[in-house]
Amino acid sequence: MAQQFEDSFRRKFNYLRLSVTDVCNFKCTYCLPDGYYPTGSKNSSFLTLPEIERIVTTFAACGTSKVRITGGEPTLRKDFLDIVSTVASVPEIKKVATTTNGYRMAANVHDWKAAGLTNINVSIDSLDPRMFKQITGQNRFHQVMQGIDEAFIAGYEQVKVNVVLLKDLNHHALPDFLNWIKDRSIQLRFIELMQTGEMDSLFDNHHVSGVQIQNSLIANGWSMKPRQLTDGPAKVFTHPDYLGEVGLIMPYERHFCQTCNRLRVSALGKLHLCLFGEEGVELRDLLQSDSQQEALIARIGEHLQGKSVSHYLHDGNTGMTPHLASIGG
Ligand code: 5AD
Ligand code: SF4
Repeated sequence: MAQQFEDSFRRKFNYLRLSVTDVCNFKCTYCLPDGYYPTGSKNSSFLTLPEIERIVTTFAACGTSKVRITGGEPTLRKDFLDIVSTVASVPEIKKVATTTNGYRMAANVHDWKAAGLTNINVSIDSLDPRMFKQITGQNRFHQVMQGIDEAFIAGYEQVKVNVVLLKDLNHHALPDFLNWIKDRSIQLRFIELMQTGEMDSLFDNHHVSGVQIQNSLIANGWSMKPRQLTDGPAKVFTHPDYLGEVGLIMPYERHFCQTCNRLRVSALGKLHLCLFGEEGVELRDLLQSDSQQEALIARIGEHLQGKSVSHYLHDGNTGMTPHLASIGG
């Protein structure tokens, strides 16, 4: 290994979240309430396949074993299958995951699997089709649910389902969600709403802490599972009577960043050391030929030394991230 990516707090980074597009066809109230609109200069294009290959090969050489392909909605890229197989063909990369809104899943999940995609996270913020439409702006509840069925048929042993916790819209629905995963191998991941730069009153009106969910799980016989090396920051709970699991992602907890193991690269080729509070480090000029790998490693390694110990969200920092579609969640 060339050099393990490590920061000044001795955190090691084995997980890369790679955004391949900012475009999304959903309008989630907490992300793109007005739908996707292009930002940046007119000529800025998203990472090309050779650039993606260089990023992943370089990260793999420095200890990365898991890549999540994010967006926007990554599956809207016409070359999504090529992206998956490119990432999957890098020998050190054992997990090739994506986070999707599920729009294309029913139709395409068999191809994703064949291309080498090992893990899927899909967003479902409500099990009520009308509420689903209200939150996402898309009347696609049944299509997304069918996508999950199809993923199991395609051979995925578990599917992760992201639910952004929203007061009054879905936070009372825990019993329905639990009932749904009783006999399904689904890991439900309740994500606390995070405040972003473009968010108005939504945060104040709908933010609810995951602690309530945690307390109610514990009171009902759920217990916390030990953490694995490439796991995200979720606390995962299991129950002997349930095939499914529940993950809680609580970014406002004070020690959330202690186990940070991930780095992000945006669809425009900038390295982000954190979801929040920084502009990103340009990598694209070093993605134009394989011979630049050493310089690329040096630049990433150097900036990693400046990675902050915490996102300081609990102190009210929303950073400058306008919405998470710009950096892949
Ligand atoms: N707070 C919490 N989660 C968010 N996501 C998008 N925006 C936010 C936000 N402001 C989630 C989506 C998706 C994942 C990529 O990030 O629901 O599951
Ligand atoms: Fe699209 Fe995901 Fe943002 Fe929803 S959360 S608008 S699906 S990028």
